[in-house]
Amino acid sequence: MIQTARTFPATRMRRNRRAPWLRRLVAENKLSTDDLIWPVFVIDGDNTRQTIESMPGVERFSVDLLVDAAGAAKELGIPAVCLFPQTSPEVKTPDAREAWNPDNLVCRAVRAIKAAHPDLGIMCDVALDPYNSDGHDGLVRGDEILNDETLEILCKQAVAQAQAGCDILGPSDMMDGRIAAMRTALDEAGFPNTVIMSYAAKYASGLYSPFRDAVGSGGVLKGDKKTYQMNPLNSDEAIHEVALDINEGTDMVMVKPGLAYLDVLQRVKSTFGVPTYAYHVSGEYAMLQAAARNGWIDYEIVMMESLSCFKRAGADGILSYCALDAAKILKSG
Ligand code: PBG
Repeated sequence: MIQTARTFPATRMRRNRRAPWLRRLVAENKLSTDDLIWPVFVIDGDNTRQTIESMPGVERFSVDLLVDAAGAAKELGIPAVCLFPQTSPEVKTPDAREAWNPDNLVCRAVRAIKAAHPDLGIMCDVALDPYNSDGHDGLVRGDEILNDETLEILCKQAVAQAQAGCDILGPSDMMDGRIAAMRTALDEAGFPNTVIMSYAAKYASGLYSPFRDAVGSGGVLKGDKKTYQMNPLNSDEAIHEVALDINEGTDMVMVKPGLAYLDVLQRVKSTFGVPTYAYHVSGEYAMLQAAARNGWIDYEIVMMESLSCFKRAGADGILSYCALDAAKILKSG
C-alpha cells in the first residue's frame, strides 16, 4: 500500500461515505450468493421436520423435504448445500460401520437431491462422529482416538459418499494424513474429480455444541476433541496444517470456527492463495439468534455484517446456517 501524508482538512474521509451510491462505489469487497454454502440436517422418515432448540430457525428435514429445501436454495442461486445426518442411536457402533454403508441416510439424501437438482453442488462431511457410539470423529481405544486405523474408515466413507454422487467431500475429522489417504482411495475407486475441501484448520471450540445437539452426537461424546482439533491459542500451527493438506492434494481449505478466527483465515488466504472457506458455525448462529430474539440486536443487519466480514478477511466462500436468509436479502437488493 502507498502511504501518503494525508491531512485534514484537504482530506476528509467522510466525503466518500456521503451517499449510498458513493459507498457502493468505494466498497472494497462484495458478498454474493455465489459465496454461500448452506449446511442442512437430515433425518429418517417421510414428510418430517424437527426444530432444533439451540438453533432457532434451523430444522432437520427428512429426505423428501430436504429435496424441496435444496430446491429453494438452488432457486435463490446458492451454489451448494452441505449435508449432516442425525443418525439414530441404534446404528451407532464403536466401529462406526454405518459411515460407509452405501444406503445410509446421507447417501440416500445425496442421491435424492442429485436426482431432483443435478446442478446443485452437494458437500458431505467425512468424519465418524454421527456413526460412532463414542461421539468422536475417529475410532476410540481406551482413552485414545486412533489415527491411522481411522484413516481406513474415512476412506471407505469418502468413497461411499462419492459413489452416491457427492461433489465435495469435507473431511472434518482432523486426523493426520487423511487427505492423502482419501485422495488415493477416491482416485483408485474411479473418482478423480470428486473435490476435497479439507477442514484444514479446525479448532477445538465450544462453539460446536448446538451442532452436536442437531446431529445427536453431543450426548454420547466422551471427553473432548482436543487431541485432534487445534488449540485456539495457535496460529502458526494452522499454517502447517494447511500446508500439509495442500501438499496431500486438497482442492480447497477451510478455517473453522468463523468470526473469532478471522486472523487465521486472513493468514491462510494470504499465505497460500488457494480457495479458502470459513465455517460460520452453529454456536455463532445460536448467539446471533439469541440476541436477536431478545431484541438486543437486529438479526438481518448483524448477519449480513458477519458474512461480509468473512469476505473482507479473504474468504472465497462461507458455510452458514444463515445462507438462505442472506440469499433472500441479496436477491431483493
Ligand atoms: C463433526 C463436525 C462438527 C461440525 C462440523 N462437522 C462438530 C465437531 O467437530 O464436534 C461443527 C459445525 C457447527 O458447529 O456448525 N466432525
